[in-house]
Amino acid sequence: MPDVDPSQFRQLLGRYATGVAVVTANAPEGTPAGMTANSLTSVSLIPPLISICVDQSADMHRVLLQSEQFVLNLLATDQEMISRRFAGQHESRFEGIGYHLNHQGLVVLDGIIGHIECERYDTHDAGDHTIFIGKVTGGATAVGRPLLYYRGGYTELSDK
Ligand SMILES: Cc1cc2nc3c(=O)[nH]c(=O)nc-3n(C[C@H](O)[C@H](O)[C@H](O)COP(=O)(O)O)c2cc1C
Repeated sequence: MPDVDPSQFRQLLGRYATGVAVVTANAPEGTPAGMTANSLTSVSLIPPLISICVDQSADMHRVLLQSEQFVLNLLATDQEMISRRFAGQHESRFEGIGYHLNHQGLVVLDGIIGHIECERYDTHDAGDHTIFIGKVTGGATAVGRPLLYYRGGYTELSDK
């Protein structure tokens, strides 16, 4: 059977609503890096594993291959601008963005509804992406509502 074309692939997967995360890690020279990702998936409970898929052409791909640890920052409804910032072209993605460094020395953004701290556990090549599997070592949740991504756009939970 032939493959679906990229536009049909996007259309099909676009019907699967997700949250939005910013994955943060430090480059070898210690500089923080971050990238918007919605491919976060729960993988295993024991041990506690998650996965994210990262485009092999992304700068973040190189950073994640070289960093033992990373953080998933789970964005709140009012953080669409942060999602756009970490998915787009900007000289300095962290400029004007509030954050602190956690006990691993990694960026945790302000105003998020939770963050998940991970150690790199495994990687698998998958087409033009790499599946990064992280072992969850910590994290925290906060009060708030999630930013959602659906059919190529941002949305939020309705109160119904
Ligand atoms: C809502 C949303 C979700 C995204 N999810 C992913 C993802 O899971 N994996 C990925 O590789 N890129 C994803 N992207 C695209 C990257 O954020 C984008 O290509 C970014 O510019 C890559 O940055 P970098 O090359 O500086 O690392 C997503 C973009 C948006 C807007």
